[in-house]
Formats: sequence, C-alpha cells, structure tokens
Amino acid sequence: MVSPVPAIAPRELTTLDAPVRALYERVAQAIEGDAPDMPAIAAAMVALATDHDYLAPRVRSLGDRPGSVGLHVPARGPRLTLVHRGDGQMGAIHDHGCWVTLACITGIETHRHFRAAATSAQLASLELITDRAVGPGEAVTMLTGDDIHAHGHVAERGEAAYVLIMTGDDQRLYRRREWDTATGRVRVLEPGDGGRWLESDPFPG
Ligand SMILES: [Fe+2]
Repeated sequence: MVSPVPAIAPRELTTLDAPVRALYERVAQAIEGDAPDMPAIAAAMVALATDHDYLAPRVRSLGDRPGSVGLHVPARGPRLTLVHRGDGQMGAIHDHGCWVTLACITGIETHRHFRAAATSAQLASLELITDRAVGPGEAVTMLTGDDIHAHGHVAERGEAAYVLIMTGDDQRLYRRREWDTATGRVRVLEPGDGGRWLESDPFPG
C-alpha cells in the first residue's frame, strides 16, 4: 500500500525555473481538495506547453531520438516529464495508478482511451472509447480507475509530437497493468516495473 501523496511543499518549488514553478503553484492549489481539479491542472499544463521560449531548448536537447527527460521529478507527488516518440511509434496500452495529464507542445499526439469490458484477467477485451489527435495547446486528463490508454504517433497523422506529461505521483510506486494491443492480453506490472515503451515491444510471458 502506497502512503498518501504529501502536499507540495513551498520549499520544493523555490529551486524550479519560473515557468515550471508557476505550473506547480497552480497544481498545488488544484490538488488541495478531496479530488484533483483536472481542468485546472490541464489549463496549467497547456500554459507551460505553449511557452515555447522556455521549452524549445529542452525539445532541441532531446532531439529526434525517442525518449523522455524529467523536468521536475520529486520522490513523491506530481512529476513533470518531456516525452517524444518517433514517427509511427505508438506506446503500449497501460494505466498509471495515479492521475495523469498530457499536453502537446508540437506535432500531433494520438491518444487512445480504452475501457476493459471483460472480467477475465487474461482476456480483458478492451473497448476503444476515444481516439483523439491532440495538437499544440491541447491536453488530455485521466483519473485512476478510468485511465487505460495508449499514446504516441500514428504514421501520416501529423508530425511526431513532443508532449509534457504530469503524473500525480511516481507511477512506479504502484501496481499497474499493461496490455498487448494485438491480442488483448493483460499483465500486471509490479511496483518498479516501467512496462513496455512501445506497443511493438515484445509482450513478456
Ligand atoms: Fe500514460
């Protein structure tokens, strides 16, 4: 059992760059209540995602290679990462164990939201709920319990995107799940297991 996420300490924010600090100040307010205010978090993420003066050097340093770089990744609480998948690279279907927000900086990120329709652990058939082309200045949010999704780039659907992703906590603290897109098989990711990066990666077992 993971202990509750602690509040964001003001001293945690003092060392952050001003645009990231502004985001975290808004997020700190948005998570004060019983449930996170996801529209407020999405708006704050879009504000940073459209700050190209700040983000352009970080996007350039990531370059064309697929990967991610942490912009603020404390041990507990909301984590902010810059992520890029390459042309035609779709991520594996997964959940997070905590709330999540994705905001697009450049390009088109395809975001697919699923629901598990079956009760069998081995044959949970997934129903595609939405298939969105998320462009610059747009965001997606999901809450735990309804957050089975995949995202990345679909060939010929715009340029491969650079996106900001914020998770409500370190997702590797939680037991999560991932699915094999081709067969619908599901497997449990024990804490510490980051799962597959791409849907084309071999599905273990
Ligand atoms: Fe995700």
